[in-house]
Amino acid sequence: MKKVLSGIQPSGQLTLGNYIGAMQNFVKLQHTEECFFMVVDLHAITVAQDPAALREQTEAVAALFIAAGIDPNKANVYVQSHVRAHAELGWLMTTIANMGELERMTQFKDKSAGKDSVGAGLFVYPTLMAADILIYNADLVPVGDDQKQHLELTRDLAHRFNTRFGQYFTIPEPYIPKVGARVMSLDDASKKMSKSNPNVGSFIALLDPPDVIRKKISRATTDSGREVKYDPANKPEVSNLIGIYAHCANMTIAEVEERYDGQGYGPFKKDLAEHVVAVLEPLQERYNEIRSSGEIHHILKQGAERASIVAERTLIEVKERMGFLLPRE
Ligand code: AMP
Ligand code: TRP
Repeated sequence: MKKVLSGIQPSGQLTLGNYIGAMQNFVKLQHTEECFFMVVDLHAITVAQDPAALREQTEAVAALFIAAGIDPNKANVYVQSHVRAHAELGWLMTTIANMGELERMTQFKDKSAGKDSVGAGLFVYPTLMAADILIYNADLVPVGDDQKQHLELTRDLAHRFNTRFGQYFTIPEPYIPKVGARVMSLDDASKKMSKSNPNVGSFIALLDPPDVIRKKISRATTDSGREVKYDPANKPEVSNLIGIYAHCANMTIAEVEERYDGQGYGPFKKDLAEHVVAVLEPLQERYNEIRSSGEIHHILKQGAERASIVAERTLIEVKERMGFLLPRE
C-alpha cells in the first residue's frame, strides 16, 4: 500500500474545482492506499481569517470530505492543527529552505502581488506543506495543477535533508487528474475557479442550492460561435464547461461533443446544469446529515489520534538526525 496525503484549506466555500481537482481522487485512492486527508487550518491563517468563520469553515470542510464519500474507517480525516507535529516539522523544514526558492513560488507571487504588507506566513507556507507531506513519508499527493510547484519544492527539500542528514524521507510524487486538474472560472477561462474570487458567479460552491447552480451555469461566459467543441486554445470557455460536463456525467470529452453536435450552446448548458445538480444534491443531503448529527467531532478526534502516532515518530527521528538533544528519563 502506498501512503497518500492531501489537504484543503478552510478559507471559504469549497468549489466544484476542489471536488473535481482533488476530492474525487481522495475518494478513489482510499480503497487501495493508506490515506491521510486534512483540513489545513494552519495554512488558512497565512491570510487574515475571521476567527468564528475559520472555526465554522474548518468543521464544514471536514464534513464535506465525508459527504463527498471519504470513509473515515478507510482514511484518516483530521484537522492539521490537531496534530501538533506538523507545525514543529514545519519550522525544521523552514530552516532547510532558501529565500530564493520560496520567492519563486507562483502562489506566493500571486497572493502578494500589489500588497504593501505581505505576511511572513505566506512566504514560508510551502515549507509547512512540505512538512505535512514528509511527516508521513507520503508516496503520493493528489492535488490540482496549481500545487505542482509546491510539490516540486517538497521533493527538493526532502532530497536536501536526505543529503545532509542521511537517507530518510520518501520523495513524494504528485497525483494529478488528467481531466479536471484545472477547472476554470465561469466568468473568465484564463483564471482557475477559486473560492476566493469576489464574484460568486465565477464559481460553483459545493453547497450552492440547485437553482443557484442552474443560474450560474446559464450565465457562464461562452465563446462566440455555437459549436460544442473541445478546443482549449481557441474556445477556452466552452472547453472548460465540456470538461466539467464530462466529469459530472461520467462521459468522455468525445462523447459530450457528439451528443451536442449541431445543437448550439443552449441545450448543452441546460443539461450541464442538471448533471452538476445530480452530483451535488446527494452530497448536500449527506452534508446536512453529518452536520446535524455532530459525528464529525468524533471522526476528527480518531483521525488525529491515528495520524499523531505516525507523525510523532517521524519528528523524533528527524530531530535525532538533525542533532537535537532529546529529553531523557
Ligand atoms: P485550496 O482550495 O487552494 O485549498 O485547494 C485544495 C485542492 O483543490 C488543491 O489540490 C487544489 O489544487 C485543488 N483545486 C483548487 N481549485 C481548483 C480548480 N479550479 N481546479 C482544479 N483543482 C483545484
Ligand atoms: N497548499 C494546498 C492548497 O492550497 C493545501 C495543502 C496544505 C496541501 N498542505 C498540503 C496539499 C499537503 C497537499 C498536501 O491547495
